[in-house]
Amino acid sequence: MFFASDNTSGVPVQILDALSRANGDFVAGYGNDPINLALRDRIRDLFDAPKAEVFLVATGSAANALAIASYCPPWGAVFCHELAHINVDECGAPEFFSNGAKIVPVPGAGAKLTPQALDQALMRAGKGGVHQVQPALVSLTNLTECGTRYTVDELRTLCATARAHGLPVHLDGARFTNALVTQGCSPAEYTWQAGVDVLSLGGTKNGLMGVEAVVMFDPAQAWEFQLRRKRGGHLLSKNRYLAAQMLAWLEGDLWLTLAAHANHMAAMLEDGLRQQKDAKVLFERGGNMLFVDLPRSSHRALHGAGAQYFLWPDHASLDGPPDMPVAGRLVTSWCTTKEQIEEFLEALGKI
Ligand SMILES: Cc1ncc(COP(=O)(O)O)c(C=O)c1O
Repeated sequence: MFFASDNTSGVPVQILDALSRANGDFVAGYGNDPINLALRDRIRDLFDAPKAEVFLVATGSAANALAIASYCPPWGAVFCHELAHINVDECGAPEFFSNGAKIVPVPGAGAKLTPQALDQALMRAGKGGVHQVQPALVSLTNLTECGTRYTVDELRTLCATARAHGLPVHLDGARFTNALVTQGCSPAEYTWQAGVDVLSLGGTKNGLMGVEAVVMFDPAQAWEFQLRRKRGGHLLSKNRYLAAQMLAWLEGDLWLTLAAHANHMAAMLEDGLRQQKDAKVLFERGGNMLFVDLPRSSHRALHGAGAQYFLWPDHASLDGPPDMPVAGRLVTSWCTTKEQIEEFLEALGKI
């Protein structure tokens, strides 16, 4: 019963096979190999973006921080939701890689920004004043940190709000595929056609061993990104092994199949939870992540029965009044099984 994160899952055999195949011969290093070129073309095709540049890194934090730094000077400000991973979970990497840019957190229910809140924050930003950091970028996350999802229209309106203030948009897509398969639109509609300039396309949470692609729909910042990636120590020399994973993931729509399975498992879990009288599902589920209020005693019993998941927020504790509702964060993955969901719901039902 592993619901702690989609990071806890293994790697599909198709990816391991692709790594073996990539292992054949000598090839150029640093991304100048045929597998990288094929991947770049595949992503351009899939996103209907023939001029997009594609760069690989090994972690989502590196993808976000380097992408953000490429758009943001040291005196710049990045506007994002207050719960955004870049604000709370990256140990200051975006600030570090940008040499000190400021993250400006904006509130919003369910980890979603509204155009009104974003507009207000941007109006108050002090653009043009020498005493203030200067607005440089808006960063959105989809799926969000609360497992909710922006629709295409919502994304379009937020990007238009950023654009009205002269700002480009970064999208943290650590779980982009989970959002995409639920939304049921094309990758292009869900990114650059809605106004996204640069995407951190997450692979690791959806089955890869450790690959994220930075997709720059506007290639103007691509050279700067490349220099920052090298300087930041994130240009892997044996880059073919990153590209081979992601190319196999995109082959035959495997990325969509894996995410659809994870989302389906989350839907099953949600249905079961909604039938439990003490359980309250907290946000509208957009993909493979659920938040549920349960009495603290239920969390204790579930953990005792072997279920692995985190309480939310991070500082919540199993110690304290047993009847008090505490939120749990449950994440399903490409290899979560129906049996694991049933086991969890059965353990909860017995409490
Ligand atoms: C929304 C979001 N963005 C980025 C990341 C960063 O990924 P990594 O842990 O690979 O740096 C995560 C990981 O949990 C995430 O949830």
